[in-house]
Amino acid sequence: MSKLAELSRLLESKVIVSADITEDDINGADIFQLAALVGDYFSNSQGIKLLDKQLLSKIISELNEEKMPKEIEIAQGAGFEPLAKEMRIKYSYVNSRIEPVGSSASDFVAHFNDRFQKLKKIITSTRTLAATDIANISQYMTGREVSVIGMVYDKKTTKNGHVLVTLEDPTGSINVLFAKPDAQLHTQFQAEASALYRSATKIARDDVIAVRGKLSKGLLIASFFTWPDVPIHARKQSEDDFAIALISDVHVGHKLFLDKQFSKMLQWLNGTIDYKKDLAKKVKFAVFCGDIADGIGVYPGQEKELIIKDIYAQYAMFFELLKAIPDYIEVFVLPGNHDAVRRAEPQPELDRELAKYNTGNIHLVTNPAMLNLEDIKLLAYHGTSLDSIIANVPGNAYAKPEDAMVELLKRRHLSPIFGENPIVPSRDDELVISDVPDILLMGHIHKNGAIDYHGTLVVNSGTWQARTAFQVKQGHMPTPAILPVYEAKQRTLNLLDFNSIT
Ligand SMILES: [Fe+2]
Repeated sequence: MSKLAELSRLLESKVIVSADITEDDINGADIFQLAALVGDYFSNSQGIKLLDKQLLSKIISELNEEKMPKEIEIAQGAGFEPLAKEMRIKYSYVNSRIEPVGSSASDFVAHFNDRFQKLKKIITSTRTLAATDIANISQYMTGREVSVIGMVYDKKTTKNGHVLVTLEDPTGSINVLFAKPDAQLHTQFQAEASALYRSATKIARDDVIAVRGKLSKGLLIASFFTWPDVPIHARKQSEDDFAIALISDVHVGHKLFLDKQFSKMLQWLNGTIDYKKDLAKKVKFAVFCGDIADGIGVYPGQEKELIIKDIYAQYAMFFELLKAIPDYIEVFVLPGNHDAVRRAEPQPELDRELAKYNTGNIHLVTNPAMLNLEDIKLLAYHGTSLDSIIANVPGNAYAKPEDAMVELLKRRHLSPIFGENPIVPSRDDELVISDVPDILLMGHIHKNGAIDYHGTLVVNSGTWQARTAFQVKQGHMPTPAILPVYEAKQRTLNLLDFNSIT
């Protein structure tokens, strides 16, 4: 496909490309970035959207310009009297314990034992389940009903379509069969068997599950199974009328960091924009959930996409921007996979050397970290493991990050599938979700999404970076510059779109 035809395709007929534009006019520009800029140019215009030669040349010169995000000075809006400024709200946070990365076999054995015991305890604390050690099963007769708790070593689909799982506990291992429902079954049994089978197709390697079933020649034929899961609970309601701004994936330093929209969001926090001012007045906390900066050397060729090529300068710019956040707002910043800390999780907080700030309201925290905001438990995790959930658990997609986040909640673990997302094999697995959060916050996917799961509000806070060339190639459709804001008293989530605010 010619570059011109590719541009028209990417613009999805929303913009008319003038017939006199030729291939030469595009002049070797990155077609994906060009499409993003053209889309941005017309985002607020009504009527006919025509891309003519003159406009194309202006946009291409903008694309080639090495421009820095503007430094912004924001004065508080006239007559803006934020309620949050007078509020005394208690808050605290618990960082993950940061241990050095071990790599010996015994480190991993100890790590997985700890994970297994913690998740087993969660399963047995909320259910009456007389689970037996797997080693004891060999003494039982065929037909006997037993329950076991184990970690999934392997999962296969047999040629007849049954799901076959090898389950291990510290004493041994057993094969568990989840039968594909028989079409001849009575309707009521059919529905039950289908539900069990559908759930079983979502079992992934390294999951800790409890299974009940009947023994048949050394095989356990499952009639029930569960992940540790979270109990149905009431989400904590605050008596104080404050709000939490949920932000992630700012990617400062990348060409596609949306500095205009981000500045508008900062202006909104300061009451200088005539848009949902009553909500702006209530914002007492802001959480930045990772990928603060775009970083350097994260993937091959990244340097071509950077406006700021120096890692210190990227963070200097980010913390410069943060100075525009009113000082009565407590700000939490955790790292993500693009940030300048070790890649293995849990990740330590950003180095204070990188954080060129001089205000007391900014708190650098680990990834993950549990925040306690007036007794509302907010578990913040960047979400790097969501890639492995989307790739390995059927029914998940980049279009619905909240569903993949629910898979993590059910498993009570932030990075359950070993090998795809680097973790530190500490003796105390800090990625187990020990405490049920009121809010589970992640980013990473660059797509907003929210759902209530058993009382926990699951939120993905999207991004402040436009659609990248990589995302265009992968067919991912991000939702940039949409800010989720949670009201603690009303227990409601608002989505504020900063793409169209002038
Ligand atoms: Fe990101």
